[in-house]
Amino acid sequence: MSPITPTAVSRMSIVRTVAELRTALAPARRAGVEIGLVPTMGALHDGHLSLIRHAAERCGLVVVSLFVNPAQFNAGSDLERYPRRERDDAALAAAAGADVLFAPSVEEVYPPGFATSVEVIGLTDRLEGAARGSEHFRGVTTVVTKLLCMAMPDVAYFGQKDAQQLLVIRRLVEDLNLPVRIEARPTVREPDGLAMSSRNVLLDTDQRSRALALSEALDSAARLAAGGERSAEALLAAASDTMRASGVVPDYVALVEPDTLEPIDRLSGDALLAIAARIDDVRLIDNAILRPGRAGSASRPSQPLPGETITTCNA
Ligand code: PAF
Repeated sequence: MSPITPTAVSRMSIVRTVAELRTALAPARRAGVEIGLVPTMGALHDGHLSLIRHAAERCGLVVVSLFVNPAQFNAGSDLERYPRRERDDAALAAAAGADVLFAPSVEEVYPPGFATSVEVIGLTDRLEGAARGSEHFRGVTTVVTKLLCMAMPDVAYFGQKDAQQLLVIRRLVEDLNLPVRIEARPTVREPDGLAMSSRNVLLDTDQRSRALALSEALDSAARLAAGGERSAEALLAAASDTMRASGVVPDYVALVEPDTLEPIDRLSGDALLAIAARIDDVRLIDNAILRPGRAGSASRPSQPLPGETITTCNA
């Protein structure tokens, strides 16, 4: 992580209302400076910071939004437990190169009388949508639409760890003709393979070691695919067995088309292996692209999903 300096924090403005945000962005917009948005729910980790650094290298101005969106949590307890540490987040975002931190209140985002939601049909029925209910993605797509309308960035950055969320947001932006580019960045992992997540801080030592079962499950299926296995049933069994061997019961383990999330029977091209599990009461997700036939190429490390080129802003 970059060193946090008081100067970096003082250079970054912290704004809490849409009006303040628009005032903060107006000079850059008038000057034709490229504006990048990194939407987050805070508890920033290296995954978020890599998005912010990437945005800062390419864009003239970087906005990081920090909003724990109640509309996308199913269980009130999950929302209450979600880590909140705005002061640390502000320092980390500033050190990574953010120019503006937008940290609105719930009332600013959902004022009294708020009655609109944005829903992507179909893609949201599967995987996380099936496991968490339709309100989860409705909450995500509604808040992301609002954040994009509030900041009106030229480009917005999302992580591939939430592969389904990324797909849903791409669909949303295309369907609503929103004038923003969506760019994806690879999943960032701890040295032992655990995908970085804001929820990882909720894991105690024993849970943290069991959580490794997720990346190990992806690895075991990837190894099998690299060795020539094509049957989805066998690949899914390898992933599930690896999780269960660590005492982790999968919420789901699915091998799907990366663009449609339709389940597949045989690995004939790139496929998305998506998994979710609860480590006691902490729910984690992870994914990998499996590729047939190329030993070593089917792996969880951070490859872009098919069709995702990492383009740059004109800074
Ligand atoms: O991925 C997240 O952190 C959230 O789902 C997002 C995109 C910031 C919307 O609340």
